[in-house]
Amino acid sequence: MARLVIRGRNRLKGKVRIGGSKNSSVAIIPAVLLGEGESTLENVPAIRDVKVFAQILKDLGALVSLNENTMTISPNGFTSHVAPYDLVRKLRASYYLMGVLLAKFGKAEVGLPGGCDIGPRPIDQHLKGFRALGADVSVEGGVVRLYANKLQGAPIYLDIPSVGATINIMLAASMAEGTTVIENAAKEPHVVDLANCLNSMGARIKGAGTDIIRIKGVKSLKGTCHSIIPDDIEAATYMMAAVATGGDVEVSGVITKHLEPVVAKLREAGASIEQDGDFVRVIGPDRPNPVNVKTMPYPGFPTDAQQPLTAVLCRARGVSMVHESVYENRLGYVSELVKMGANIKVQGRTAVIEGTDRLVGSPVTATDLRAGASLMVAGLSAEGTTDIYRLEIIERGYESVVEKLKGLGADVTRVEE
Ligand code: UD1
Repeated sequence: MARLVIRGRNRLKGKVRIGGSKNSSVAIIPAVLLGEGESTLENVPAIRDVKVFAQILKDLGALVSLNENTMTISPNGFTSHVAPYDLVRKLRASYYLMGVLLAKFGKAEVGLPGGCDIGPRPIDQHLKGFRALGADVSVEGGVVRLYANKLQGAPIYLDIPSVGATINIMLAASMAEGTTVIENAAKEPHVVDLANCLNSMGARIKGAGTDIIRIKGVKSLKGTCHSIIPDDIEAATYMMAAVATGGDVEVSGVITKHLEPVVAKLREAGASIEQDGDFVRVIGPDRPNPVNVKTMPYPGFPTDAQQPLTAVLCRARGVSMVHESVYENRLGYVSELVKMGANIKVQGRTAVIEGTDRLVGSPVTATDLRAGASLMVAGLSAEGTTDIYRLEIIERGYESVVEKLKGLGADVTRVEE
């Protein structure tokens, strides 16, 4: 166990390079198992979720090597359709093994996923998709069992534009017979990244990034070399940290288009933002303006950036409203911000934040990944020392977080318990 100790109020200054997208990596790493040859993935972030996934693939018999940010995966020896439960429960994205194992072997046994504790996260849309493709689906004792003699392409309408269901159906349908059409598909950048990767393996997927994705099944897929897109949420977190501390930070190695909803809100909050090519420079105001925001599927304001934005707004000059519309219960972490002097009232899915001019460092606990990011942003702008317990949760999704913050002039230390 470790904690992050932050002595706050340093204005962050300098340049930070953003790593590969966590959410893309956890879809693409299992996806390349569908290829018949070896694949090389570049720009893979050195984070815990990636390491756990690499271990799961090894347990399934694949050969995996990780050298800095390059991962090589060879499916030779990958013969098991049963995913090891003790690792699967550690990360939510392990549900992508359902689509992969079903496409590869026509059967899969995968424990129900773990991951962040942010309220109920059903997978009914994933299972509906597998059934539509012709699979028998049963869920018993926390294990999902899938079986199909053959997968047959089908039209699938998603009740909600679920990222996970869209990706899982793309994976399962990539080698099905005939054409699958996903309507009301998720449009997140990592859905597009996965489609690009699968297409480079020989898949025939069109429309990723729009509401309708068409997948024409192919007989086989080959290995590939693919570079993971930059992590928009890591970038958003450093942008928020710059605003919260009145800093001047250049966030580099990003796709600026993916950051538009965040840029728009931070400008409303009073930040001055320049962007060009692959970087965004954020200059924070002394104290932010209050803003109202509602989280939405892409290209709306991302739910994963809601928690760090709330931390920024704790010090705004006025009242902000943050409405969480993607998840039923993603505001639990505010009680930790309140310990730091934030004035927040939660009404249903809305947080009403009355800005205060000072947050005070306190011992707090990261209850989930983005809650941890929120506490980090709050701690950087608070007076005194903030101890964030369960730093491992933050390290699930933030590469070299201590080093990157230090590089921006933050006074932070990792302490092993
Ligand atoms: C992914 C991201 C996560 C992000 C989320 C929303 C990964 C690994 N994780 O999670 O960081 O917060 O998208 O942008 O990419 N739902 C159902 N039934 C389903 C599936 C989802 O009701 O079968 C609901 C969920 O409970 C949630 C909403 O739909 O309320 C969105 O979920 P979804 O888009 O599936 O999120 P994830 O893929 O789990």
